[in-house]
Amino acid sequence: MTTTGEPTRRAIAAMLGSHKRENRNLIPLLQEMQTAFGYLPRAALREIASFLEVPPVDVWGVATFYNQFRFLPLGKYPIKVCLGTACHLARGRAILESLERELDIKVGGITADSNFSLDRVACIGCCMLAPVMVVGDKIHSRMTPFKAEEALIPHKQEIQRELSDSEEAP
Ligand code: FES
Repeated sequence: MTTTGEPTRRAIAAMLGSHKRENRNLIPLLQEMQTAFGYLPRAALREIASFLEVPPVDVWGVATFYNQFRFLPLGKYPIKVCLGTACHLARGRAILESLERELDIKVGGITADSNFSLDRVACIGCCMLAPVMVVGDKIHSRMTPFKAEEALIPHKQEIQRELSDSEEAP
């Protein structure tokens, strides 16, 4: 289960403690940390390196090699664009690029206000609906660049409402 958020030393130590001190556990550890925190915090990478007794640069090198890992926290509304085969053929990349422009971030990034993060994923299992994207828990099907930008509007309105409410609060 993804808990996301700032990692604690105790949480990191607990995950390390459930693995043997073997190099082949590097990727499982990276995956587990990302599932737990929503991203790979620097502290976690350092602790993994120390646990496996390998240079931190080696851990960083492996983590950055794979698209599946991200190094910044997730936004309040995490966006995932599918680039599996069916979605790729249905111009999924155009969806990703339009969101990069709309949010002014690159894939793997998070907006300055921490509201949106953007990632690409492999097949999420609904290829008949390609191209698809996910915002939070909601799957959006048969996307076009225009529809992708439109899908953000309710979240932007929600953000605006919350901002107004907090300004009105005494
Ligand atoms: S390839 Fe995108 S859902 Fe399968």
